[in-house]
Amino acid sequence: MSQSVCKVAVLISGSGSNLQALLDASAQAGAPFSVCSVISNKPEAYGLTRAAEAGVTSSIIDHREFPNREDFDQALIAEIDSCQPDLVVLAGFMRILTPEFVRHYSGRLLNIHPSLLPKYQGLHTHQRALDAGDSEHGATVHFVTEELDGGPPIVQAVVPIKKGDTADSLAKRVQVQEHVIYPMAVTWFAEKRLHMLDDRTQLDGELLPRNGTRIHC
Ligand code: GRF
Repeated sequence: MSQSVCKVAVLISGSGSNLQALLDASAQAGAPFSVCSVISNKPEAYGLTRAAEAGVTSSIIDHREFPNREDFDQALIAEIDSCQPDLVVLAGFMRILTPEFVRHYSGRLLNIHPSLLPKYQGLHTHQRALDAGDSEHGATVHFVTEELDGGPPIVQAVVPIKKGDTADSLAKRVQVQEHVIYPMAVTWFAEKRLHMLDDRTQLDGELLPRNGTRIHC
């Protein structure tokens, strides 16, 4: 059984609460995936402590030590590939990746973004949803392509916006759901149920809607 477990490399820059959700899911009996490596571009990222506590190998590739994005990404690829992962997961990894990096992991590179994509690509998503007067917000797990926050969605958690919400209160409720949908999507991938076909996502042999599967919270 163990030889069929999907090996996952997780890239982080900060707190690593999504990493924690993945570590917790992978520790469940019969989990179809295990985290083989955690890599941070920031030495101070708390996620590194989470990896150590879970007994997972971690490393730091500090982008400030490289003259350009290309060299940093090549070092990142070398470090990731040393554990020969089946899947690479971006979990709060705050670096824009080169097309070469994205192509190298095409179809096996996932990200989580705190909005209902295609709405609010980029930063400050919670405040932008509030400023727009939206009634709902959420998070999206998607395949990564060369378009920033633009790859095919897999699953979205839809979170109602409440009267009096601030960017912080909304972010907290959205994060609770991130910790549900990220392990879910990684599990589907590990079970070989999830594929990227051109610009679409296929789950269990069916093309998903353009927004991915939606879960209302
Ligand atoms: C999450 O909100 C995720 O949506 C975004 O970055 C944040 C990372 O948080 N991509 P954490 O480091 O997993 O706690």
